[in-house]
Amino acid sequence: MLARIPDGSVNLVLTSPPYALHFKKEYGNVDKDDYIAWFLTFARDILRVLADDGSFVLNIGGSYNKGTPTRSIYHYKLLVALVEEIGFHLAQECFWYNPAKMPMPAEWVTVRRIRVRDSVEFVWWFSKTPWPKANNRAVLRSYSKDMIRLNERGIRTTTRPSGHAIRASFDQVSAGGSIPSNVLEDDVPTDMLKMGNNAANDHYTQRCKEAGLKIHPARFPAILPDFFIKLLTETSDLVLDPFAGSNTTGAVAEGLHRHWLACDTDETYLAASTFRFTGSEVQLSDDAIRRDAPLQTAQLPDRATTR
Ligand SMILES: C[S@@+](CC[C@H](N)C(=O)[O-])C[C@H]1O[C@@H](n2cnc3c(N)ncnc32)[C@H](O)[C@@H]1O
Repeated sequence: MLARIPDGSVNLVLTSPPYALHFKKEYGNVDKDDYIAWFLTFARDILRVLADDGSFVLNIGGSYNKGTPTRSIYHYKLLVALVEEIGFHLAQECFWYNPAKMPMPAEWVTVRRIRVRDSVEFVWWFSKTPWPKANNRAVLRSYSKDMIRLNERGIRTTTRPSGHAIRASFDQVSAGGSIPSNVLEDDVPTDMLKMGNNAANDHYTQRCKEAGLKIHPARFPAILPDFFIKLLTETSDLVLDPFAGSNTTGAVAEGLHRHWLACDTDETYLAASTFRFTGSEVQLSDDAIRRDAPLQTAQLPDRATTR
């Protein structure tokens, strides 16, 4: 599908490919040794299809080395290769705090108790040029009570022990909201956006159960594509997810009135993904989808439509 997409036609590629996991998921995971070469075949096309001000957001998880309580560095090697071999720019490293992750590997965490729970995944934001389209005003959060109190009291010009100068004009509440951190956080006004991906009763899950269809085992939460689609695209822009799974990305894009393209090698996941497009507007942005098209064939940009 990637090969059929014209050069420079996509505004955002947002995806979560299979990770190089030691314990493999049902959809198969490439071994760590082969992972970089495998992924780079996709990465070259991703760079090609992106517009000059386009972005590539990659969600990837870490992994342990076989037989020892030490971590693989395959995902860091991938980051270096994407920049140095393929030519992406690293716009920003972001992190997804996922408190629902299992305490794995059990041997090191819950049996021998020599490692702690891993609850962060990487979300790397790459761009085709150093100047991707981005607008953090589109993802402002509510101000914390402390921030509102500070604003009412007024902020005095001061210098922090770090040497950082705080001016009276600093971060006024009138700016419309607080600027989110790169640790992705929900609408909870804390430093961290905690996003679980274990929704057991959302529209998609319920419809899969009713239809007896396999529920995708590794969905990311809608808030992840929601955040980056708002930050990096505008209405009618084109968003692509080449490892779409249950098509969370497409459904969120649809709800935000962006065009989208999605594909996956597993037709069962794609069949179930259509449930994301049978709900209301709210369900679209909560889970994901497109009402009228089977997803296994590419929808080329000139035919892509939001509704
Ligand atoms: C981590 S899952 C993506 C889940 C998705 N973000 C969601 O929210 O449902 C990775 C997906 O990549 C798919 N996949 C594996 N190899 C692929 C390939 N060569 N081309 C396209 N999809 C592939 C798998 O079937 C799996 O559904």
